[in-house]
Amino acid sequence: RTPLPQLLTSGAPLPKPYTVPLPLPAVAKPVRTDAGTDYYELVQRPAEAEILPGLRTPIWGYDGQFPGPTIRARSGRRTVVRVTNRLAAPTVTHLHGGHTPPESDGYPTDLVQPGTQRDYVFPLQQRAATLWYHDHRMDYTGPQVWRGLAGFFLVVDDEQDRLPLPSGERDVPLLICDRSFHTDGTMPYPVRDDGPGARMAFMGGVLGDVILVNGAPWPQLGVDRARYRLRLLNASNARVYELALSPGGTLTQVASDGGLLAAPRPLQQVRLAPGERADVIVDFAAYRVGDHVELRNLLEEGPQAQVMRFTVERDARDDSAIPPTLSRVERLDPAQATVTRDFEFNSGDLHGETGWLINGKPFDARRVDARPKLGQVEIWRVTSDVAHPVHLHLAPFQVLSIGGERPSGPAEWKDTVELREAQTVEIITRFTGYRGRYVMHCHNLEHEDMAMMSTFEVV
Ligand code: C2O
Ligand code: CU
Repeated sequence: RTPLPQLLTSGAPLPKPYTVPLPLPAVAKPVRTDAGTDYYELVQRPAEAEILPGLRTPIWGYDGQFPGPTIRARSGRRTVVRVTNRLAAPTVTHLHGGHTPPESDGYPTDLVQPGTQRDYVFPLQQRAATLWYHDHRMDYTGPQVWRGLAGFFLVVDDEQDRLPLPSGERDVPLLICDRSFHTDGTMPYPVRDDGPGARMAFMGGVLGDVILVNGAPWPQLGVDRARYRLRLLNASNARVYELALSPGGTLTQVASDGGLLAAPRPLQQVRLAPGERADVIVDFAAYRVGDHVELRNLLEEGPQAQVMRFTVERDARDDSAIPPTLSRVERLDPAQATVTRDFEFNSGDLHGETGWLINGKPFDARRVDARPKLGQVEIWRVTSDVAHPVHLHLAPFQVLSIGGERPSGPAEWKDTVELREAQTVEIITRFTGYRGRYVMHCHNLEHEDMAMMSTFEVV
């Protein structure tokens, strides 16, 4: 648990929790559709948002919004997103969790310069899942996401549509992140080389002191006495959450980073490191009309422990259910793996100062650190010094062991896994679909920017 860096404690008046209604990001409409493809357009531009009541906050947003518009795309339908950069800085957009050809994956040096645009092509040959898109510019992912460059990308499919899980207004995406504010409304972000204090904030990862859900501080949502599907996304630069209901209640996890689990997993709390997602079902029929149900972060006390609140408003009909089996999830067999690779996530020398490295090396776009063969099953053994959420592009994986122990519970696909301090995690994956360059990196965005990223090339 990292203390809040003083640097970011800004003196802005904190809003009263649970007075702002939960915003829902606008759902993007395709600008055009043909037999096989849906076309979307997003314009990155500076804008102002009223995040704290009465204050104007300059942001960078997709379509000027934070979070950006939600894209709801169908599995198997080619989806083309034209991103136009009207910001003063280069950008790169990555679809986190996307099974994407390399030229559209948002490799950190594939810059879209100010005043230009690029088509990102997503064939979406993948299962339904809660994905998200965000900036991925080399050395500047942290500040550019902090300013607002992130949004949901939901992949839907027929298998999920057939399940009786809550849908429509009872399927609620929740993008959770922390920010800090100055009294003038701006969101301060440290300049990396601005003295030892800033350097320290970077080494730990930048934390904010206000928790935002869908861009609103400690919001509240009125709900029916019925089941809801909450799509929880930790879009924070560095903060980890352990989310629980208060008064207590069950969060039934039905999906993970890579879509439906094999079977529902009932939990009292859900831990999410930066980049991770969990879709959970909450049954508000377990409460009474008029009850307030808080979503809390058990890792904090005080205002940072409060995330959002649900108010149970009315009795209502509920045709939803949580089926005992959700999806067939193939378990990758370690006996099929032909290669095992080791990656150490450690601090070390970065241009004469301390930075975050993988196997002792800082990210360098001219260097390839692993060359898995197309179709090959590999085990990657990842070791940490301090905690690091490890994210792999392209290839969803399964966790074989955490600290030497097999994870219990239903089979699932992940794209981000939290390495706790001094821990070893083994993942197994199969590199399918595309040849080309991708990255693995720490999803603590300041660690990523301080070079904890490595290129692999599927050959
Ligand atoms: Cu969510 Cu490589 O990123
Ligand atoms: Cu890290």
